[in-house]
Amino acid sequence: MNAMSNANARSGAHTQQQGDIVIKGEGVGKTFGNGSVVALEGADFEIKRGEFVSLVGPSGCGKSTLLRMVAGLIERSSGKLAVHGDTVKGPRSDVGLMFQRATLLEWRTALDNVLLPTELSRKLTSADYDHAEELLAMVGLQDFTFTFPSQLSGGMQQRVALARLLKTGADILLLDEPFGALDEFTREHLNLELMRIVADVGATTLFVTHNIGEAIFLADKVMVMTPRPGRLARIVDVPFERPRTAELQLTPEFNALVAEVRAVLGDH
Ligand SMILES: Nc1ncnc2c1ncn2[C@@H]1O[C@H](COP(=O)(O)OP(=O)(O)O)[C@@H](O)[C@H]1O
Ligand SMILES: [Mg+2]
Repeated sequence: MNAMSNANARSGAHTQQQGDIVIKGEGVGKTFGNGSVVALEGADFEIKRGEFVSLVGPSGCGKSTLLRMVAGLIERSSGKLAVHGDTVKGPRSDVGLMFQRATLLEWRTALDNVLLPTELSRKLTSADYDHAEELLAMVGLQDFTFTFPSQLSGGMQQRVALARLLKTGADILLLDEPFGALDEFTREHLNLELMRIVADVGATTLFVTHNIGEAIFLADKVMVMTPRPGRLARIVDVPFERPRTAELQLTPEFNALVAEVRAVLGDH
């Protein structure tokens, strides 16, 4: 099988799996300060197995708040929220989070950072070491297994954080501007790799960004949020085939979709 038909077979499998609803929100809302700050109001959405969904909107519109509620890190104020049909009541092992900062332990090598969550939950086996090395190779760090964080660039540190996330076995990935602190070139490159990796592991992904182009480029659908109060204004389907290349962003179809999302944001 050549690379192309391989990719097609994978995207075919990807589509077939997309029956089950993995994350479902109905009227999800959040207020802070005894109701004085409405961070998010009445969000309705469904995310299916294997889907890559972007959550885009300006700073302060409630993206992180929604993500943290899905993660079970903060309680919602109103509405229903379920993961695999179970009401979200707290963190769960199949849901993993990644933030703008990698928060690696400086005194542990890349490998030992990837192994940390497993080590905290049980005794490590040689299979864990093999798996962690495989994951480091998957994120392109096969030559940096024994390197300490201070010797890694910001982009490489985020790669370690991604490998660490995958080592937990989570197949629902909640990524809050994971490459937001990196320069544009590194970010673009990591976005391409992220698409490959989540397709390879068959993860369901909710990806937060304030960059419209990035949101569309990565996603099967884009949840567009507007501020004051934070509201899910529109869910836009992204029809472009996979695998995608950076050149997609130069096409009129892509730019028409960027304009559509921008119009939703501009209306508010
Ligand atoms: N712990 C908190 N206490 C009070 N207000 C908060 C808290 N967290 C978020 N907010 C407010 O909720 C709104 C949405 O915040 P956030 O979800 O962080 O937005 P985004 O991630 O889209 O930038 C903002 O007005 C923010 O100030
Ligand atoms: Mg945020």
